[in-house]
Amino acid sequence: MTNARESVSERQPRRILITGGAGFIGSNFVHHWCNNYNSDRVVVLDALTYAGNRRNLASLEDRDNFKFVKGDICDRALVDELLATEDIDTMAHFAAESHVDRSILGPGAFVQTNVVGTFTLLEAFRQRWLQRDKPQSDRFLHVSTDEVYGSLGANDPAFTETTPYTPNSPYSASKAGSDHLARAYYHTYGMPTIITNCSNNYGPYHFPEKLIPLMCINILLGKPLPVYGDGQNIRDWLYVGDHCRALDVVIHQGKPGETYNVGGNNEVKNIDLVRQICQLMDELAPDLPISPAEKLITFVKDRPGHDRRYAINASKIKTELGWSPQETVTGGLRQTVKWYLEHRDWWQPLLSEEYQHYYQQVYS
Ligand code: NAD
Ligand code: TYD
Repeated sequence: MTNARESVSERQPRRILITGGAGFIGSNFVHHWCNNYNSDRVVVLDALTYAGNRRNLASLEDRDNFKFVKGDICDRALVDELLATEDIDTMAHFAAESHVDRSILGPGAFVQTNVVGTFTLLEAFRQRWLQRDKPQSDRFLHVSTDEVYGSLGANDPAFTETTPYTPNSPYSASKAGSDHLARAYYHTYGMPTIITNCSNNYGPYHFPEKLIPLMCINILLGKPLPVYGDGQNIRDWLYVGDHCRALDVVIHQGKPGETYNVGGNNEVKNIDLVRQICQLMDELAPDLPISPAEKLITFVKDRPGHDRRYAINASKIKTELGWSPQETVTGGLRQTVKWYLEHRDWWQPLLSEEYQHYYQQVYS
């Protein structure tokens, strides 16, 4: 599927570097791109941290125009070499430290990858773009989060692209820093950067530490379901396939220098979401260790600085680029719960010693 406003015959193949392509959203995006743009060159750069999983890309490894490179986005020499040898014209930048709870335990890695890493990519891309005579069709897509806008009260209007930045966690602060750099590269150098700020994604290949996979896996293992605080915090849930379509449209149709908010139009309280997952598991999973699964819900100490509510106003991308989400949270959650049920072989190896150590630190 190409996007609506560009005919297939007009489209020039791209040579795209996807950073963080072995992670959750990145790997979904790599599959999306390879399925839709067969003749594009696709290069993935990923350091394979605890969150990166090369198995997410296993079905693509034999393709002629696909290449996986294990490496750090902070490694300027490696990035320079890749941009030159692969003649990259499009960067889709997903690589990041992405989990708020880990940023509370150890913020240093977040500043390094999210700020220094993004800066390294921007500088390398700028140099290459200058050497290539500044093609206006080149794109540097910086994938960011709604968390940079801070926390909303129950009756506040949803975040727009002009909402002031007020990040509250080391994670969101480091993403805010990287957003400001990406913005500055357009305003100062004219480099064609675009920023997207999206809400909470969910779907296949989501690492076990995040809310939805954690609840699915703990239900299957008969372990407590830890709900932070009073469970009344609200997130907007965006199905990862909808997000990938949005990023596709932004790369092809978005205006350099602009920011686009991407949301699922699905605001849900955490406790209601957890209850829905429990009900789906009761319905879909035979022989749960503990049933009904709701018996496992356990309220635990709140996350420090826990943002109360996020909500996205996605009318800009809808009116300017014609994108809107297609998945409801009911439909998307059912698909996701089924995916975790059917892919025990994917998530079981991820519950490693390192993961158990992390789990102890956050939940004990
Ligand atoms: P993830 O943690 O699942 O994946 C991150 C990937 O980046 C991993 O494959 C990891 O190995 C790689 N990586 C980390 N540090 C690296 C480095 N220094 N060099 C190279 N690769 C490195 O993250 P995700 O959930 O897929 O998020 C992708 C992007 O989307 C991030 O920039 C995140 O801030 C943003 N985002 C995520 C969500 C969400 O709900 N997951 C919401 C909004 C924005
Ligand atoms: P998470 O998936 O970590 O995403 P983010 O913090 O980026 O929004 O968490 C989603 C919500 O779920 C957030 O309000 C924190 C809450 N939460 C819990 O209540 N228990 C948990 O074990 C986790 C991981 C999250």
